[in-house]
Amino acid sequence: MSLLDDLRQLEVRARQLIASAETQEKLEEARVALLGRKGELTGMMRMMGQLTPEERPQVGKCANEVRSAVEQVLSERMAAMKQAAQERKLAAEALDITLPGVRPHLGHQHLISQIIEEIEDVFCSIGYTVESGPQVETSYYNFTALNAPMDHPSRSARDTFYVLDLAPGSVAHPEVHAQGESDVLLRTQTSGVQIHTMETQTPPIYMIAPGRVYRPDTADASHLPQFNQVEGLVVDKGISFADLKGTLDYFVRSMFGKDRRTRYRPHFFPFTEPSCEIDVSCGVCHGEGCSFCKHSGWIEILGAGMVDPNVLVNCGIDPELYSGFAFGAGVERIAALRYDLPDLRTLMTGDMRFLAQF
Ligand code: DAH
Repeated sequence: MSLLDDLRQLEVRARQLIASAETQEKLEEARVALLGRKGELTGMMRMMGQLTPEERPQVGKCANEVRSAVEQVLSERMAAMKQAAQERKLAAEALDITLPGVRPHLGHQHLISQIIEEIEDVFCSIGYTVESGPQVETSYYNFTALNAPMDHPSRSARDTFYVLDLAPGSVAHPEVHAQGESDVLLRTQTSGVQIHTMETQTPPIYMIAPGRVYRPDTADASHLPQFNQVEGLVVDKGISFADLKGTLDYFVRSMFGKDRRTRYRPHFFPFTEPSCEIDVSCGVCHGEGCSFCKHSGWIEILGAGMVDPNVLVNCGIDPELYSGFAFGAGVERIAALRYDLPDLRTLMTGDMRFLAQF
């Protein structure tokens, strides 16, 4: 009874074929080759028609057994493959939640911005507003309205970055800027914001104006071609030098500490009269004299003075009714004094080893 033998042999081969199928595709191919319409087992079952009636039940039973055995092995193998694939996927996606996370790198404000905000806090707490003005300025706001004479040396192209006027027919040239009234320049000081503020506001004015300024200086340990100043302006009735002194003493002690002393030295600025420079007692030697303060015991910290009546008049404010004081401080200088920085250029280089300390 060779068909019976063929069936038994087919079962053996089928098991081998299924066991050796390594992918779901190969397994499907095996299923089609065995049980498909043109498959081997299907073909054998079709041959049952040629059997004698006596043989048929026995062979039929055997064929059915083989068929269900093959189907069972196929579905077991398919299930095992799916399970293995699922396990592989899970293993690949495995996440160890006990591993330490990737620490995000948090930045913070630059030292100069921190100091500007601190100065704003000091003055806002006594009722000042914070104003701003353009960094590209005309010589009127940077010099003329501030009472700077036409031949003032700071107007020269050696001390001021001029932005050449490219309008047709323009003859802008550094040598002639001293005569020009509306030449465009990069502001050399924040003092021009005084003018903008007095033009747009009426007294009482109590304001500070922090901002960037530019000068054609080569960067070295104590100079930067671009740095920050904080301007201050008060215009009100009955403002005297005592107000200037009380306010700036308060400012200096807020920034440097209550134990620091101040000293007011006469000086000259075109826009204030009288004018002074203000020194703070040296924080390193407490006034004894050391190399930090060049053995003077004092460190210069800002310029100030009573607003010149000409400046008030330039802005349409009656100097008979109003008086005021103004001041200007360099922010990088304050940073250098507070933290004993040996070189201002470190503030500009973006070296995180330096900046992250503040
Ligand atoms: N603008 C001056 C400078 O850049 C600083 C200054 C001095 C500002 C006296 C003032 C002032 O408002 O009254 O050197």
